[in-house]
Formats: sequence, structure tokens, C-alpha cells
Amino acid sequence: MARLPEEFLQRLRDANDIVDMFRSYAEVKKRGRTYVCCCPFHSEKTPSCTIYPENQSFFCFGCGVGGDSVTFVRKMENVGYMDAVQILAQRAGMQLPARSPDEERTANLRRRCLEINRETANFYYMQLVKGEDKRGLQYFLQRQLRPETIKKYGLGFAPDAWNLLRDHLRSKGYHENEMVAAGVCRQSEKGNVYDYFRNRVMFPIVDTKGSVIAFGGRVLDDSKPKYLNTNDTPVFNKGKNLFSLNFAKNASSTTFLLAEGYMDVIAVNQAGFDNVVATLGTAITPDQARLIAQYAKEVVISYDSDGAGQAATQRAMNHFADVGLPCRILKMEGAKDPDEFIKKFGRDRFRMLIDQAGDVNLFQLERCKQGLDTDTEIGKTEYLRRVVQVLSEIENDLQREVYISRISHESGIRKEVLLAQVTEAIKKHRYGEKRRTFRAIESQSLQRDELNPDAKLFPRESKAEERILAYLMQYPEDCEMLWQRIPPELFRTEFHRKLYVRICTFCKETGSFDASAVQEELTVEEFSRLIGISARYRDTRVTRNVVEECADVLHQAQQRITPGEDMSDDDLLQLVASRKQKK
Ligand code: UTP
Ligand code: MN
Repeated sequence: MARLPEEFLQRLRDANDIVDMFRSYAEVKKRGRTYVCCCPFHSEKTPSCTIYPENQSFFCFGCGVGGDSVTFVRKMENVGYMDAVQILAQRAGMQLPARSPDEERTANLRRRCLEINRETANFYYMQLVKGEDKRGLQYFLQRQLRPETIKKYGLGFAPDAWNLLRDHLRSKGYHENEMVAAGVCRQSEKGNVYDYFRNRVMFPIVDTKGSVIAFGGRVLDDSKPKYLNTNDTPVFNKGKNLFSLNFAKNASSTTFLLAEGYMDVIAVNQAGFDNVVATLGTAITPDQARLIAQYAKEVVISYDSDGAGQAATQRAMNHFADVGLPCRILKMEGAKDPDEFIKKFGRDRFRMLIDQAGDVNLFQLERCKQGLDTDTEIGKTEYLRRVVQVLSEIENDLQREVYISRISHESGIRKEVLLAQVTEAIKKHRYGEKRRTFRAIESQSLQRDELNPDAKLFPRESKAEERILAYLMQYPEDCEMLWQRIPPELFRTEFHRKLYVRICTFCKETGSFDASAVQEELTVEEFSRLIGISARYRDTRVTRNVVEECADVLHQAQQRITPGEDMSDDDLLQLVASRKQKK
């Protein structure tokens, strides 16, 4: 792929303001000419991510991720450079410059997959409502789905046959390879292509743009596996999409419900709650938690009341905590899941359940009792130990106070006793945390620098190179002068040399510099490093004098590596090390 034209990238970034992009993921605060927020790429409580509107970039001083709006999408959606550009262009309604044949092919396949999915959903729907075999329809009706609900979700039926869908798609002009790529058909060892979903009621999965991207199919009886789901395809990634998000994203409520199953979602939605989603046959992923955080201000986890559901709740809670989305937990009694609850007790009771859903602390405190007989001395002691642990992790003092009173009231443990133990536990945490942070810093500085392994060997030179790069980015018009004074061979670290050559080449061609222009050839980590250099030297500009000193450092180092009698032991060691590295 030829490099994207500078003018296009500029327009792309103008159309996707970096500050706005962060706003949709995190709370952004103005601080002088820049903005700060808690980094969406690692978990933290005090903001260390800085956004620079002046050059539309960002850098997190905590985790070292940085870049522009394209990098943001690359990280957030976990996609490559071109995909990220495409997403931004689409968002801004911009046309992408012409593509290479390879890219053309991929884009084509994606388009065909989407068409096949749409056609397949139609086919299954027609089979459900008009087909001879009425078992699918009967199944849904017996589970009390109304016809308009079936239509709203485009539910369907895959008949008990091996080739019906394949032949139908063939008649519409699709190739068998494409059906397999879309995941609706499979290929046997002998090479025969056959329908993947058979004798199942079908749940199409629709993305936020309204495209059918995958299917879930449920058996009509108790046979196994209960559900089959589309495997990942060019248009579908099960860990990055949610069932019914196409409806939930338009819900009037900013509280989302997270249910476990397709049937739960549909039952809850039919009862009048549009704000409900479910994962697609897997436990919730960090990507999905982030996706929900994009649309919701709060989430109520409504998993099944069985042990598996409760364990899954715990894991989901952690993911939501990581993305900073407040969550509450629905406590269901007398029913195993939301579907059954609504059928038994009706929607008003379900609404009450949502309103009463307790916060995370309550859920944790309840779980402390699990498996314990609190009437015995041993049970009581263990309960106290667990409760103190949970209480000591509550950060808000006032909140902690409230729970301490509550537990004391419920369990009969004296409040003073609880308070004393909790205070003690908090002290221990703080100490432990400090030690952990200290260790982390220590191990970080001992760790190998994967990107720039030479930096450890040549710390002084590496630092000088960094300053030179910073200067170059600040004064691109001086690139000719720099190139003369400091030819790239003088760079002792390969990574910095690579950046230096790239940037100089670009500056010489265009007479100006814009970090985004070199992003395409770099990984997110490499690009982050470059943005980091630019961010660190933003306020302490590198002067011409400093750059001269840096040039001297590199020149002296160069002279030193010419082996001679006057070489010090250190220099010799460095030389040996550098030779070893090159092999
Ligand atoms: P459930 O077994 O709770 O299914 O699994 P459900 O949707 O509530 O269906 P009913 O009410 O029993 O008919 C919850 C989710 O786990 C995934 C599906 O996404 C399902 O909706 N799952 C379950 C699978 O992917 N495969 C399975 O075999 C079972
Ligand atoms: Mn269920």
C-alpha cells in the first residue's frame, strides 16, 4: 500500500478531534492548554494521560501509550493501521483514497460475507414463518415470544437438512468459498460444503450499523450442544460484539442490563426494556466492557442465579471496574434467570429488581457468608475475616462507614471491633501497595527494553539521541543541518536511528514534520515511543546549544569505538557488547 497522502490524513484528523474521541471513553479535564484524563488503556485512578489539542496527539505518562486519533482507534479496537483509518473515515463520511488490489480483495470478501449473512437471516426467517416445518415457530411461541418480537429480532429457523441454505445461496450467486468464509456453511474433509446450522432456532447477531454479522442457533430440545455460534469471520469477532446492542444503543436509559443468554435478552426486551445486551457464547471480555462503557453510564449485571452465573458476575465486575463503569448486581430469588423471573412475576417486579440492585460491595459482602455456618465459632471467625477484607477495600470513607454499621447490625459483631480490624487491614494494604509500586518501578528499570535494547548498553548516547529526535520534531526546518552534523551512522541505538532516518527523510521531502505521517510504518509501541519523546520535551524545548552537545556526545562515542590503546575498560566492554548484538 502506498502511503496515504498527507492532505488526506490531515483532513481525517480534523474531522476526528482527539479530545472528543477521549471524551466518549473517559472524563476529560482541561488543564491549561492541554487536557488530562484517566488512561483508557490501563487501569488507574489518577489521570496520567495528557491530550494535546495543538497537534492532536496524546500520551500516557503512566503506561507509555501515545499517538494520534488513528493510534487511539488502533489500540481501542485492536485493529491495524489501515483498518483504523477506515473506521475514522467512515465516521467522518470521508472517501478513502484508492486501494491496492490486496486491500480491494479483503474489502470485497467482507462485503460478500455481510451480504451472505443478510441473505441467510432472511432465509431462516422465511423458513420460520412460512416453512413447512413449524417446530421452530412453535418453539418460540411456546416460550411466549410474541410475533412482533420474533420480527423485531429477525429470529429464524434452520431446517433439519444439510444443503438447503447452501443451495439457496448458490441460486443467489454466492460461491461456496464465500459461504464458508461467512461461517454459515462448512467444508467436510472430502471437500463437500454443507449447512453449519441444522434443526435449530436461529438468533441473528446484528452490529450497531445494522448489519447481520453472525448467528447463534439453539436446539429445540435438550440435546447438546445447546447453542452453536458463528466462529470468528472477516466480519465477526465474538469478543468484540454484543447481542442486541443495536437496540440497546438507542435506549432512553443510560443504565444497561447485562444478561447471560440470548433468550433472557429477548424476554427482557419484550417486557419493555430496550437497554439489555448479552455476550456471544463467551464470558465478557475487556473489549466488551469497554464497548458497554461507550454507551452506558452504569450497568446492572443480571446473570443467572446459579453458581456459574455468580462466578461470572464476579469476573464481569472486575472488567467493569477496569474501565471505570459503575455497576450494580441484580439479586434474583425464586427464578433462575431474567426470562423465568419475568414469566413468573411480571415486568413490574423485574423493574423493582433493577431499581433495588445492590452495588458491588453488597454483592461481595453477601458472598462472604457462602459455605459458612455463622452460628459456629469457626464460621463466625472466618466470616469476620472475609468481611473485614471486603470492607477494607472500599475506598470511600463514608461508604465504608455505612457498610460497617450495616454488617454490625446484621451480624451482631460490635461496631468498634469491626472498625478497629478494618482500620488495621487498610494500613496493611497501604503498606503493601507502596511496596508493590516500588517493586514495579524497580523491576521496570531492570527490565530489558524490548523496543530499544541498545539503550541499556549506551545510556548516555541514547539520551542524546532522544534529544536530537525531539529537536528534529520541534525544528524540522533544521533537518538538513542536523543530517550534515549528525549522519545516521553516529546513532548508537538502532531504534533511534530508524526513527531519525524516517523523520529526516520526511522533513526533507516536505519541509515540515508531522508525527502522524510516519505512523503507518511503525507498530503502536514504536509510535508511542516517538510520541512520548515529543511529549516529554514539549515544555522543555531542546535548544540549539543542547543539540550541539548531543552531537558531541555521539561524535566522541564514535571516536571511542575505533579500537585503540587509549580505550578504557568500560569502552572495551561496550564495544564487545555492541559487536555481540550485531551478530
Ligand atoms: P443458557 O444456557 O443460559 O442459555 O446460556 P439461554 O440463552 O438462557 O437459553 P435458554 O433460556 O436455556 O433456552 C447462556 C448463553 O451462553 C451461550 C449462549 O450465548 C447462551 O445464550 N451458550 C450456552 C453457548 O454459546 N453454547 C452453549 O452450548 C450454551
Ligand atoms: Mn439462561
